[in-house]
Amino acid sequence: MSTLTETATCPATEPAPVHDVAPVLPVVGGDTLVPLVDGRRVRYANLDVAASAPALEAVADRVTQVLPLYASVHRGAGYLSQVSTALYETARRTIGAFVGARDDDLLIVTRHTTDSLNLLAGCVPADPGTGEPGRVLVLDVEHHANLLPWQRGTEATVLSGGPSVAATVAELRDELRAGVAEARPYALVAVTGASNVTGEALPVAEIVAAAHDAGARVVLDGAQLVPHRRFSLEDTGVDYLAFSGHKTYAPFGAGVLVGRRDWLDAGTPYLAGGGAVRRVRTTSTDWHEGPARHEAGSPNVIGAVALAAACEELASVEESDVRAHEDALRRRLVAGLEALDRVEVVRVWEDAADPVGVVTFTVAGYDPGLVAAYLSAEHGIGVRDGRFCAHPLLGRLGFDAGAVRASVGVGTAGEEVERLVAAVAHLVADGPEARYGVVDGLWVVVDDPRPVPAGSGLDGLLATAALGTDEAFGCLPDDV
Ligand code: ALA
Repeated sequence: MSTLTETATCPATEPAPVHDVAPVLPVVGGDTLVPLVDGRRVRYANLDVAASAPALEAVADRVTQVLPLYASVHRGAGYLSQVSTALYETARRTIGAFVGARDDDLLIVTRHTTDSLNLLAGCVPADPGTGEPGRVLVLDVEHHANLLPWQRGTEATVLSGGPSVAATVAELRDELRAGVAEARPYALVAVTGASNVTGEALPVAEIVAAAHDAGARVVLDGAQLVPHRRFSLEDTGVDYLAFSGHKTYAPFGAGVLVGRRDWLDAGTPYLAGGGAVRRVRTTSTDWHEGPARHEAGSPNVIGAVALAAACEELASVEESDVRAHEDALRRRLVAGLEALDRVEVVRVWEDAADPVGVVTFTVAGYDPGLVAAYLSAEHGIGVRDGRFCAHPLLGRLGFDAGAVRASVGVGTAGEEVERLVAAVAHLVADGPEARYGVVDGLWVVVDDPRPVPAGSGLDGLLATAALGTDEAFGCLPDDV
């Protein structure tokens, strides 16, 4: 087996093939077989980790362990209710510790990053001078989750930034200073920790310094950062962090908003309902402070426990190993794709440092949806295509027709990356073997012979196919 050290020391322009690079941590479903249009079954290459990451085996084990203990949280005197409450609150502390939460920070368990950022948008204070909605500064590179919430209830200014990190940080700093000079200071800067389109990021320390100098706070969209890099609220000075369990190898429905207490204690309770209140009369309500204020309804104890288990498992491996693994896979992806005629890799900033394992590309002459359908049907590779919930960015960069995104994580094997590079090379050289058409706006194989798992909802996607319907993907024999 090649070592990551060897791979990482190769010249940046010629990364070594990564066939033998092993996952850093085992994930559930790493051996799942999927059918191809030629009748073979191959191991699924899950290169769509940025959308939804598979569960770590340690997460699945923990969930299995605690399920017999599952009961109501914060609501019951029964023994298992007490256990479940303890599990939930312990998970809260574990997750907070993983992201370097300060002693006085609040950690609210949400559903995902989108939920977290919508919650925070309801807590940004009005301008104390004018009483107008608080001002939020944001870049057009953001995922819609970190763009649209600020267009409701807060006053959002959206900047495009420049072609470089330096120009973009300078533009943000100038706008923050202009806000102060005009006596209309920004309350908040909302910025991605790593782009879900390119994996690139701005330097957090510089953003925090610029924002704090102008009296603004910073919220980091950590959806693509936290699963890939160690991050600390305390060390960076970031005020709020949002991230998702389903991208952090814990797909059990929990996400997180964590950060400064004062806005969260004073803000509009995110959900109105049981658990968020001290006392309710028909004419008035006395709301809790603390996490309970925003966690009405039965808490997702299993989701929180799963996310805490993922945090513990990620913390148990050396960050340098995670980084080296991902860096090797990413550099091979970029170099392998860029070496192909007609393939363009998307970048936001020419000088971005330390991008995470997300690589977006186009193949001239092929619709991104067709490329994604081809990769699935002829190679058993899962990627995402489209505009990645980042329409303003894709539009500004000239990719309004969309692109294809490959993304990796701790469970990705180098062999999967090599398969993608080879498959795209084959497409460029020879074109697809199967016939493809568009059905209901989606690219599909014409007369797709692949079986569809019964009840999966995929039947509509493969509307033109004559299908067997009762074979589950996970139960197919391994005949490759
Ligand atoms: N936000 C997820 C993505 O970028 C769904 O794919």
